[in-house]
Amino acid sequence: MGDNYILKADHITVKFPGVLALDDAQLHIKRGTVHALMGENGAGKSTLMKVLIGINRIQPGGTVEFNGQQVTITSPNDALQQGIAMVHQELSPIPEMTVADNIYLGREKMRGLIIDKRDSIRRAQELLDKLNIRVDPTEKMKNLSIANTQMIEIAKAISYGAQLIIMDEPTSAITEVEVKHLFEMVNNLRDSGISIIYITHKMDEVFEIADEVTVLRDGQFIATKSASEIDKDGLIQLMVGRDLKDIFNKETVPIGESVLEIKNFTRKKEFRNVSFDVKAGEIVGMAGLMGAGRSELMMALFGVTKLEEGEVYIRGEKVEIKEPLDAIKHKIAFLTEDRKLTGLYLPLTVKENIMMTNLNQFTSGGRLQHRKMEKVCEEEVQKFTIRTPSIKQKVELLSGGNQQKVLVSRWMLADPDILILDEPTRGIDIGAKSDIYALMTKLAKEGKAIIMISSELPEIIGMSDRVVVMHEGKLTGILDRSELDQERILAYAAGELDDYKEAQS
Ligand SMILES: Nc1ncnc2c1ncn2[C@@H]1O[C@H](COP(=O)(O)OP(=O)(O)OP(=O)(O)O)[C@@H](O)[C@H]1O
Ligand SMILES: [Mg+2]
Repeated sequence: MGDNYILKADHITVKFPGVLALDDAQLHIKRGTVHALMGENGAGKSTLMKVLIGINRIQPGGTVEFNGQQVTITSPNDALQQGIAMVHQELSPIPEMTVADNIYLGREKMRGLIIDKRDSIRRAQELLDKLNIRVDPTEKMKNLSIANTQMIEIAKAISYGAQLIIMDEPTSAITEVEVKHLFEMVNNLRDSGISIIYITHKMDEVFEIADEVTVLRDGQFIATKSASEIDKDGLIQLMVGRDLKDIFNKETVPIGESVLEIKNFTRKKEFRNVSFDVKAGEIVGMAGLMGAGRSELMMALFGVTKLEEGEVYIRGEKVEIKEPLDAIKHKIAFLTEDRKLTGLYLPLTVKENIMMTNLNQFTSGGRLQHRKMEKVCEEEVQKFTIRTPSIKQKVELLSGGNQQKVLVSRWMLADPDILILDEPTRGIDIGAKSDIYALMTKLAKEGKAIIMISSELPEIIGMSDRVVVMHEGKLTGILDRSELDQERILAYAAGELDDYKEAQS
C-alpha cells in the first residue's frame, strides 16, 4: 500500500502464430486517473487489455501487479472478481436477459430455492439511480441502445467494486449526446478513485478526457506521458514514429461535369426530398448528427433499400438502380458503415476478402489467375500497410483497424467511377487515415466522383470540396469549401440553420 499505482504490468510478451503481438511491453496506471492507450492498428492495445482480463496468456518473465500485489488473471470473470472490468461491445451480454439479471447474475438473493428477482430489480434500480443511468432494470438487454448497453456494463463493473475499468473504443458507435454522457460518467468514476484505461483513435478525446497517455508501437512500449506535457503532433510522432503534419494534404483538383445526380430522394421515415450532385474530381462530404439519414440515403442510392420517390442520373442520363448489382454495373462502389454486417467475411482470408467482388479482373479464358491475384493482394497489403502475417490469414484474427483496411482495399481495387464512403476512417489509426486521404485525392485527380459520410468534422472540413448537411432526414444546407467551418456545419446539422425550408416544402 501507499503505492500510487493501481496497475503495473511489465515485460509483457504475447505471441500468436506468426505474430509477436506484444514485445516486452509495459503499462503503469495511477490510481484515480483516466489513462489513454494509443497506437496504430495492430500495435497491441486490445491484446494487452485481453491480458489484463485473462483472455490472453503472457510469456514467462512478464508480471502483472494489481493493487500492490502480483496477480495471475485466468478469465474475464476472475478479473471481475479481482476488480478489473472491461466494457466492450464484443462480449455482449445475453440479449434475452433483463438489465437486473445481467448485473446480478450468479449473485442473486435466494428465498429458499427460488431466486429473489424483486431483490435484484430493487438493487439494480438503486445502483442505476446512484450512477444517474436512466434505464429500466426490467428491460431486456436486447432492447438497449449501444450506449445504454455500455452504461449497464459500467454499472455492473461498479457493482463488483471494480477499481480498474477498461474501455476499448467506446465512442465508435454512439451519438454525440451519448458521448457527453459517457464522459461525465468517466469523470465521476475518476473522482471516486476508480482508474480507467481508455482506448481510442480520436485525438481530441484524448486531450479532453485523459490524464496520462501510453503509446504502443509494433507491440512495444514507446512512452507514458502526462496529457498536459504533450500535444497532438507530439503524440502522433510517438505513435507513427515520424512527423505527420498535415494529414489531409488536400490538393486542388480540376472539377469536371456532374457525374451523379440524385433528385427528390424520399423514404418518408428516413429522408425526404433530398437532391444534390457530385462532379468528376469532386469530394462531397456529408455531415450530420447520427440518425440524420445519411447512411439510409446512400443505401437507397446503392439499391439496398427501395426508394419511395426519387430519381438517379449518371452523366445526365436517368438510370434505374433496383439492387446493388445495378449500382455496381454503373461503377458505383459503396464502403458501408457497418463493416461486419455488410462487408467483411470474417472466417475467410485476407486474400479472399480483397478479391471477393473483383474476380472478373483475374479471370482469363474462364480460369482464375491465382498467381496474379496473389501478387496484387501482396501489393494491396503493402499499399494499405495491412498488418497481417500473410494474405492467407483469416480476417477475424486481424486487429479492428486492419480489418477495415482490407475492405477499403477491396473497393479501391474495383476501380469505381463513383465512390461512396461511409465513415471510411472509423477505427483507423492516424497513419492509415492519412494514407486513405491520399488515396481519395489520387482518385479525385483521376476524375472520380466521391461522396464521403463522416461524423468527424475535421475530416469533413479537411477533405471536402462541398459539404451536404442533413438534419432529421432533410437536407438543410450545401456549403462550398470556402464556407466551411465547424460552428456553421454544426448549426445546419442541428437544424438551427436551414436553407432548404422554402425550396423543398
Ligand atoms: N487471436 C489472435 N490470433 C492471431 N493474431 C492475433 C490475435 N489477436 C490479435 N492478433 C494480432 O496481434 C496484433 C495486435 O492486435 P491488437 O488487436 O492488439 O491491435 P490493436 O492495437 O488493438 O489495433 P486496432 O487499433 O486496429 O484495434 C495484430 O497484428 C493482430 O492481427
Ligand atoms: Mg483493438
